Amino acid sequence: MIETRVNEAGGTCLIVHPVLHVAHTGDAQVSALRDTEAMKAEIAGLAEAISLKVLQVSACSIRKISPGYFIGKGHRESVSQIVAELEPSVVIVNAALSPIQQRNLEVEWKAKVIDRTGLILEIFGARAQTREGKMQVELAALSYQRSRLVRSWTHLERQRGGAGFMGGPGETQIELDRRIIDDKITSLKSQLEHVRKNRDLQRKSRERVPFPVVALVGYTNAGKSTLFNKLTGADVFAQDLLFATLDPTMRKLKLPQGRSVILSDTVGFISDLPTHLIAAFRATLEQVEYADVILHVRDISSPETEAQRKDVISILGDLGIDYEVDGRVIEVFNKIDLLDDETERGVWLRDPEMRGRQVPVSALTGEGFLDLLKSIEDIMAGKQQQITLTLDAGDGKAFSWLHRHASILDRRYEEDKMVVMVSIDEAEYQKYLGLFCS
Ligand code: GTP
Repeated sequence: MIETRVNEAGGTCLIVHPVLHVAHTGDAQVSALRDTEAMKAEIAGLAEAISLKVLQVSACSIRKISPGYFIGKGHRESVSQIVAELEPSVVIVNAALSPIQQRNLEVEWKAKVIDRTGLILEIFGARAQTREGKMQVELAALSYQRSRLVRSWTHLERQRGGAGFMGGPGETQIELDRRIIDDKITSLKSQLEHVRKNRDLQRKSRERVPFPVVALVGYTNAGKSTLFNKLTGADVFAQDLLFATLDPTMRKLKLPQGRSVILSDTVGFISDLPTHLIAAFRATLEQVEYADVILHVRDISSPETEAQRKDVISILGDLGIDYEVDGRVIEVFNKIDLLDDETERGVWLRDPEMRGRQVPVSALTGEGFLDLLKSIEDIMAGKQQQITLTLDAGDGKAFSWLHRHASILDRRYEEDKMVVMVSIDEAEYQKYLGLFCS
């Protein structure tokens, strides 16, 4: 597995954002500038996603790609100075570097360098949840490492004291030679086959999550994490054993009528995703397949918002989710605080296909949260059924479980039994049967 030590230890980074220079005039120049700002924000967001503190994002224009270094001499020298001054744990170059370019930059800057693909792999590695997902990411990471085995890491080990990133040179880059990696790839591929044949196991682990799951998806920078934190911030995070074992990207959220759900954050969509990483990315989204509600968070203030929406619909389609038909999807129009005109807001609310499942919010101010929570409740209520259950009168555990997971409609006692009428959804009912009737 790709190591993500940086996650535990934290770390700092300097980001170098190469802008391939093409002569622009007028509007085109403005739009190119805006793109650069958006891309700088995106790469900084990606670095933060694996707990790296961004010290500086430095754009440099490239007129001609230097074969040995990608970046020209002048810019390399100024980066050298910044590195010496800020001493980042890693320098991220927002481009696809060849192994040789990466190595040469490391030698020149005396710092660990990763490129865009390396960073994305780190994120996927940290966020993949299912066994299949983890394996897919590992497979992509191994192929990436394999292409990089020509490098010598010793210069870095000496200079940086072996501070670990991406597993550290000692462990992965030197000890794993190409043959070992090939063996690993072969064995992983056959394990993957096996895991795919046993998908039921994954579903079972999903069922162990004791509440319905609401999954957040959307482009990076759309505001998923802000929404996730804001929605769950007021809710006391239950620190019982069950929850301690849950992923940190899952948190409990209480809905207005008292029911609890698990809110699950996913890795953000990334523009210009290298094609060989698409399978790994999809794998990180697997839990979405089994979610009870899917919140598609959109940055409605972004000029890219419609193109991003299409990408999301297409990837969800690959996961078997028919966006406009699937009753689980809610589109969250985030960042409405940035749209100051009421009519501008109105434009986004006219997609008849979505039949009202579009909710404008601001994750920053909390505007629209109540409507959003109600929409989640509506979707879950659609799946409710009324059932009469008979419990031992002294069975406080089952009753309090029902109290948290269903709506109690009626309750009466018959000798030593309690007869309870509940409104409960199918998934919860199955969980109840598993927990108390087996
Ligand atoms: P990844 O983790 O990279 O996938 O991004 P994300 O979708 O989780 O986005 P995140 O929550 O990190 O937000 C991205 C940026 O948008 C941050 O600077 C937020 O402060 C900002 N942001 C999020 N929601 C809102 C909003 O409602 N209004 C405004 N004005 N800014 C917002």
